Amino acid sequence: MEYPVENIRAQFPALASGAIFFDGPGGTQVPQAVIDAVAAYYREANANEHGPFATSQRSDALIAGARQAVGDFINAREAGEIVFGANMTTLTMHLARTLGKTLRPGDEIVVTRLDHDANVAPWLHLREAGAVVRWLEIDPADCTLKLDGLDKIINQKTRIVAVGLASNAFGTINDAPRIAAAAKKYGALTFVDAVHYAPHRAIDVQLLDCDFLACSPYKFYGPHSGVLYGRREALERLQPYKVRPALDSIPDCFETGTKNHENIAGIAAAVDFLSWLGEIAGTPDPGAVARYSGRRALLAQALAAIQAHETRLFSRLLAGLLAIAGLRVYGITDPGRFAWRTPTACFTLSGLAPAEVAAKLAAAGICVWEGNYYAWEPMKFLELEAKGGAVRAGLALYNTSSEVDHFLEELNRIAHGA
Ligand SMILES: Cc1ncc(COP(=O)(O)O)c(C=O)c1O
Repeated sequence: MEYPVENIRAQFPALASGAIFFDGPGGTQVPQAVIDAVAAYYREANANEHGPFATSQRSDALIAGARQAVGDFINAREAGEIVFGANMTTLTMHLARTLGKTLRPGDEIVVTRLDHDANVAPWLHLREAGAVVRWLEIDPADCTLKLDGLDKIINQKTRIVAVGLASNAFGTINDAPRIAAAAKKYGALTFVDAVHYAPHRAIDVQLLDCDFLACSPYKFYGPHSGVLYGRREALERLQPYKVRPALDSIPDCFETGTKNHENIAGIAAAVDFLSWLGEIAGTPDPGAVARYSGRRALLAQALAAIQAHETRLFSRLLAGLLAIAGLRVYGITDPGRFAWRTPTACFTLSGLAPAEVAAKLAAAGICVWEGNYYAWEPMKFLELEAKGGAVRAGLALYNTSSEVDHFLEELNRIAHGA
């Protein structure tokens, strides 16, 4: 089935501005259905939870429906395993602090040199409780994780392994199932940061066999917010920090204070938008058809179609980037290994600071990020941090090949001193 990019673009009011949005890894645009769901919440359901009156009951129903939608998005066993929060960072800080109560001095935590700091700093704080932090390092040649020493780094002292599914800087997809299996061998818990991966590939927490996973709906066409998955048995063993009158039941006890109801309504609409895409553009994937049903099957098919579209565009983008003299790409460049990367290109241009390149592109109506994008450890490791980081151009489901061509033309002009 041909990917109906124009029909998809028509759903996103922001695209009418004509700007080229290659800033998706920092946050994507939202379809009209998400805008409508947020507005409708205010019109029809605006209230706090668990009251006897209609607006409160509508709020309860919307939140329950959104938990189910996110559960389908990541293939959780039940909606009660979904925790809503302000963003991934806040949820991870909160969970890490809670997990910290279960640690003893000398217990080990494994983090990676490749991750966004939201999946590093929360765990480093646990050194205050006597935990020892061990690192999975990066291969600078292609910005992948070095896994050869995995069996030594994860060992009988390991209690928590925190790994990203994909790098928001270089697009590298990590072999998270292998890392989770190594953690499981020693009874350690696995926490997965799926923020950068979520808009590009289908997530299945059961196949991953992780204990926790976090992602951010604003990176997959929803509102600014965060979502945490916790395997029920893993959540049940924890005592989160909470105010005393708040519910003790899971998952509510992990949601400190009043939730952002309007955004939660928007999250459900974002998942429904993706399942609509699965209906109109879904690539029938025999594996997904056999494994899933209903909305979950549509979501898996949507993500397969998105992957095919984005990979096509990324091949064109990367070929154009590599043809520019003085341009260096960080990350996997071999098309034979594109299954191991997202369509996110990280590059530097000799003689030009990343901030200058991004500003010139912005002047041409092209949105890209520059700097470290909070991928603080890898940027320091690659000695890019002191030089202003790198430029990041990331593709999303609404981008087109003519946008890629226009971007490459502008970048060539910039590289030639324009
Ligand atoms: C890979 C990755 N992890 C974590 C985060 C933090 O997410 P949030 O902004 O929801 O706290 C980001 C945000 O850019 C990210 O890209």
